[in-house]
Amino acid sequence: EKAGYKHFMAKEIAEQPVVLGDALAHYLPGDTVNLPETLDFSGLERLTLVACGTAFYACSVAKYWFETLAGLPCEIDVASEFRYREPPIPAKSFALFVSQSGETADTLAALRYCREKVAKTVAVVNVATSSIAREADVALPILAGVEVGVASTKAFTCQLLVLATLALKAGRDRGHLSAEAFAAHVAGLRSLPGLMNAALAGDGPVAALAERLAEAQDILFLGRGPMFPLALEGALKLKEISYIHAEGYASGELKHGPIALIDRSVPVIVLAPHDRLFDKTVSNMQEVMARHGQVLLISDAKGLAAAAEGVWATLKMPEVPEPFAPILYALPAQLLAYHTAVAKGTDVDQPRNLAKSVTVE
Ligand code: M6R
Repeated sequence: EKAGYKHFMAKEIAEQPVVLGDALAHYLPGDTVNLPETLDFSGLERLTLVACGTAFYACSVAKYWFETLAGLPCEIDVASEFRYREPPIPAKSFALFVSQSGETADTLAALRYCREKVAKTVAVVNVATSSIAREADVALPILAGVEVGVASTKAFTCQLLVLATLALKAGRDRGHLSAEAFAAHVAGLRSLPGLMNAALAGDGPVAALAERLAEAQDILFLGRGPMFPLALEGALKLKEISYIHAEGYASGELKHGPIALIDRSVPVIVLAPHDRLFDKTVSNMQEVMARHGQVLLISDAKGLAAAAEGVWATLKMPEVPEPFAPILYALPAQLLAYHTAVAKGTDVDQPRNLAKSVTVE
């Protein structure tokens, strides 16, 4: 039940510190990762990650982690494209399928395509008894608990946690991460539930911004590095439940076309923790402001101190260990979509034209 919340989505957003804590306790119980020994990434030439929708954006974030933390080349694709393009896949590879429901038709078909071709198929699922879980060689539950809202929230952050844990294991298996670096990243992941609590405390400012976003025709999300797929996820969430047209772009791609869309009426949401790419993102943000775009800058205290001058609005986030910022910044993206939909009066938990689980192709 909704436990006092107005919508399942609100409840599921609020549950994230707890369910992420549960997943952490399961996958990172002590000094090492709790993953099957048979999942040995050491000799792999490639990892293929396939999913749909929000689960695909989780894979897109994870690609940055597998490449930087484990030096493992990654291929990512949406399942509906992957399954029909007859992709060649090296035998020395794992194929990983991410699905909340475990019943998405295209993702299941992509898994079947890979089964005889790769060393191992791995399912990252919420529903442990699902078809995708049953048909994969290894099934890893994300432990998010039942997700009712059509817009996926807690499943996304729990998917990211399991994928981050896999990337850390791959980093150790492949000799890419020192024991010290591994321990530092584990500590970083363990800090997330506390940071999430801080980010969720008092979402009044988000609700106030949402009143304004609800009047927009088009909204853009910008991010760089692993924050780019989060920009895509933020835009998807907003489209799904508020029916406002939204697009996510890689910050550096803006000047190659989308900047033509910018005028005074377009809110541009910039997802920019104060990381090594911050200055580059800020210079793209200033290009938007020079065209009178209304920038909402989401960053930490350092980032806001450095770059908030002249923006329309800001949202302050706690500082977060760099690679895992997408897990924390998912929360303001979800809250903005939620409050904008509430301001518009749409059906948040059952948006038009959408089903929780897409079992037809
Ligand atoms: O159950 P799955 O994770 O396989 O579902 C994939 C997508 O249909 C799903 O993530 C969809 O994009 C959500 N409604 C997004 O909020």
